[in-house]
Amino acid sequence: MTTDLAPAVAPASEPVTAPRPRTFSGIQPSGTVHLGNDLGAIRNYVALQAEYEAIYCIVDYHALTSTHDPDLLRTRTREMAAGLLALGLDPERCTLFVQSHRPEHTELAWLLCTVTPVSWLERTPTYKEKQLLQPDDINHGLLTYPVLQAADIVIYKASLVPVGRDQQAHLELSREIVRAFNRRYGDTFPEPQAVYTEAPVVFGTDGVKKMSKSVGNTIDILAEPDLIRRQVMSMVTDTQRIKRTDPGRPEVCNVCQLQRFFGDDYEDLWEGERTARTGCVDMKKLIADRIVRHYAPARERYLELMAHPEEIDGILEAGADRLAPKARATMDEVRQRMGLR
Ligand code: TYM
Repeated sequence: MTTDLAPAVAPASEPVTAPRPRTFSGIQPSGTVHLGNDLGAIRNYVALQAEYEAIYCIVDYHALTSTHDPDLLRTRTREMAAGLLALGLDPERCTLFVQSHRPEHTELAWLLCTVTPVSWLERTPTYKEKQLLQPDDINHGLLTYPVLQAADIVIYKASLVPVGRDQQAHLELSREIVRAFNRRYGDTFPEPQAVYTEAPVVFGTDGVKKMSKSVGNTIDILAEPDLIRRQVMSMVTDTQRIKRTDPGRPEVCNVCQLQRFFGDDYEDLWEGERTARTGCVDMKKLIADRIVRHYAPARERYLELMAHPEEIDGILEAGADRLAPKARATMDEVRQRMGLR
């Protein structure tokens, strides 16, 4: 696990009963979970449950900046919850909830908007990307998206945020917003810190762009095995390896990179590539088998959960209820500081 900053060292006098530091992360309900989500972020969500007070959120308000189909949004929200639970989030050890079930997030986002210069938002790389991806729907939510993200994190005063590298600019903006607020109204929020896995950027099957649902280059890890295999077999490998006998370059081959996360023999496999003992198709078949095998138990849990939607809904409701006192306490403090009381 790596972070943008060196972790704070606890003072020697800190009592052993100090509350556990808080971690928060959010994920959009934009379809089922893909390999980039898991390797880049969810593995850290699961790991951090052990030591942190962990809060994880399905960000349906954020999804509304790109999805305008109410039934689809509802279905995907439940699917994302089932996916996260199947991959190891444990409602006994973390709090999982849906963003719109705690509407305080939007009130805080508005208040944070008033300390956020528009120029900071206009220069955000994801805003520029979205303008290209959905030119007919450049809604205001796309611009203020990072302010809502900052509100998500700081409303619980979380200090650590497990995310993929694509969220780095948003996290930096969250820190700037915190500094702007604290400067104007007094020390209120801690500056959140990003935490990354060993795979902070997972490339898609095209081998060029970051794996992403909106690009359509995903490996859908909880899908039926045939689909996973088809997606893996479509992966672009080392483009300079034309003939089977050409030596491979595992350092630049997307398929070889994935071998690092599924099995401990990747160095042997890479040697086989370098010496052309193995070909790209062999390598794809192997990684497809490993991915299917690795996620088979999670897929089974996912299907079981989806057969009992009331169970998923119960977990999400309990999560939102558990967070109510924390969200309300922060809002009381913020309203007081800003002169709204
Ligand atoms: P989202 O839904 O796009 O992605 C969820 C998480 O998965 C990571 N991720 C990846 N990591 C590595 N390689 C990839 N190809 C890849 N694709 C996705 C993302 O970095 C993310 O951690 N804006 C956020 C949601 C959000 C949020 C928050 C996150 C809203 N509020 C507060 C943290 C804290 C997003 O759209 O993630």
